Amino acid sequence: MKERNIKTTVASLIAALAVAGALTAGNAVAGIANTKHNLGTTGTGSNHQTAGTAELCVFCHTPHGADTSATVPLWNRVLAAPVTYSTYNSLGTSSLDGSTAAVGSVSIACLSCHDGVQAMDVMINQPGSGGFNAAGAAATGNVWSGSAQLNGATVTNTGVDLRNDHPIGVQYAGGPVTGTVPDAPNDYTTSQFKDRDFKDAKSAILNGKSVWWVETPGSGNGRQKTDMQLYTRTGALALGSGTTLNGDQPYVECASCHDPHSENPTFLRIANTGSAVCLACHTK
Ligand code: HEC
Ligand code: HEC
Ligand code: HEC
Ligand code: HEC
Repeated sequence: MKERNIKTTVASLIAALAVAGALTAGNAVAGIANTKHNLGTTGTGSNHQTAGTAELCVFCHTPHGADTSATVPLWNRVLAAPVTYSTYNSLGTSSLDGSTAAVGSVSIACLSCHDGVQAMDVMINQPGSGGFNAAGAAATGNVWSGSAQLNGATVTNTGVDLRNDHPIGVQYAGGPVTGTVPDAPNDYTTSQFKDRDFKDAKSAILNGKSVWWVETPGSGNGRQKTDMQLYTRTGALALGSGTTLNGDQPYVECASCHDPHSENPTFLRIANTGSAVCLACHTK
């Protein structure tokens, strides 16, 4: 291919990705290789989790045969049943306004390692040829000859009891006063929140779907990786109330605050200096 054609192809690929709503800032490979989320042989020291593959992405993503039980991209790990977890709302603080949905979305994907139940080397589609097992298989349990050097018990766990963690699967800003969130691309603003101590959420329609996020200072306009991401859940069942929430709504999940590919300390989307992470959403 001539250089000009390559440039055109790259430009149209980038345009296609932008249309598909992919987050644009940063580069997944550059980031993740140097972090604790590199679980292959090129990870160093305590980051080095398994032997037998120098792949990075395979511990979380597979190009084929992914789990589709939750809305996470091409997920290569078996996800637990939502009822496995106890959620923050069951603590019963009187200040919690938003409804909590069953553990799902991107959070249940993080928890497929961070609940400490499933070993790190268990995956659906192992590195290399063959090695597909819909129920998940460990290294040496199928075609992959790697060995698990650390198992679930040694990861920095959140565990299955999420009552002592910041709420996840929770409606942003306490949910809407009226029962429905304004249709994207209209912003979702303070006067529409049940809990007014929150920053406005921006919204857009990407790939035919409503998405929401909270702008962080200096991150630039439009949805960036360094904004707090809100995750769209539709008709999720509010735990405890037995009612189904109306329409598409923005929710806070693990990856609202964390970007699993980032090189920032503790995978935060932005540095937490002056509690900037907290103040991105909370008006306090
Ligand atoms: C430790 C688990 C983990 C590893 C390893 C990982 N990812 Fe991800 N990835 C995730 C999760 C979780 C999401 C969804 C998070 C989100 O919506 O921001 C995601 C989302 C994505 C997305 C879609 C959203 C975006 O940011 O554009 C792409 C593309 C992606 N990953 C590519 C990769 C590639 C390429 C690699 C290997 C170099 C990789 N990931 C390694 C966990 C991982
Ligand atoms: C494939 C397994 C796996 C998945 C999936 C995964 N992690 Fe991790 N994560 C790890 C391992 C391994 C470590 C390092 C543990 C340690 O050093 O104790 C880690 C560490 C972390 C840390 C602590 C980093 C530090 O510097 O102490 C955070 C924060 C984190 N992960 C967040 C997430 C979030 C959020 C998600 C989902 C978006 C996620 N992880 C998905 C395996 C995973
Ligand atoms: C509201 C924002 C927010 C959400 C949601 C969130 N985290 Fe965190 N998380 C943080 C912050 C901030 C830190 C850094 C804490 C610190 O510096 O002591 C952190 C730290 C961590 C750590 C490292 C713990 C340590 O002290 O070494 C892990 C692991 C982690 N988060 C995983 C998760 C997982 C898994 C989820 C979803 C179940 C999640 N987080 C949801 C903000 C969040
Ligand atoms: C992505 C947006 C977002 C970020 C970032 C965020 N929060 Fe929250 N937080 C929420 C939402 C939404 C709720 C639920 C509010 C409700 O329904 O009353 C909540 C609830 C809380 C609650 C109260 C729970 C209750 O029982 O009333 C506390 C305390 C809290 N967050 C502290 C923090 C701290 C500390 C940080 C920074 C480490 C942080 N939050 C970062 C969105 C966020």
